[in-house]
Amino acid sequence: MSTIKPALHHITMKTTRLAEMIAWYATVIGAQVQFQNPGAAWMTNDAANHRLGFLAMPGLEDDPGKTAHSGMHHSAFEYGSFEDLMASFHRLRGEGIEPAFCLDHGLTLSMYYRDPDGNYVELQCDNFGDWAQSGEFMRSSPEFARDPIGTFFDPAKVYDAHVAGRPFATLQPAIRAGAFLPAVIPSIA
Ligand SMILES: [Fe+2]
Repeated sequence: MSTIKPALHHITMKTTRLAEMIAWYATVIGAQVQFQNPGAAWMTNDAANHRLGFLAMPGLEDDPGKTAHSGMHHSAFEYGSFEDLMASFHRLRGEGIEPAFCLDHGLTLSMYYRDPDGNYVELQCDNFGDWAQSGEFMRSSPEFARDPIGTFFDPAKVYDAHVAGRPFATLQPAIRAGAFLPAVIPSIA
């Protein structure tokens, strides 16, 4: 019997900072609260009933060794275009929210933000503008097989090039080739 495939629906995090997390996800991905009480909240930024859950049960404590411990590395949200990714970078920078690191993975341009609990949230656009093509790139590109993490970039430099009018078609290969490296290569842990 074939597998009936369910769709990915939401992620739920445990937090000691319920109010901060709600505010951050509202600012960063435009999520709105569907329901909340003192111990939990559920948010969505699309037509789904919820995409994010937060459980703030009593007795939780932060994990000071979080970055060295196993567990989820990040969630990810995709824009429909590079222009939208850049516009959001600019808007968030104005709110004092900047990426921890940015990578051209070959299949996507990805900017990783740290939420108030230290969970990474990847904001990305598809380099091909097409899931079929970026999927094929993952499966068959020797370039991706050699280096599936990719090339770091400085988002401010890329934003400036974008605003100066450089089209994505020439900008992305340059990012990929390392023309926009950050001054310091960051840790992705
Ligand atoms: Fe990712």
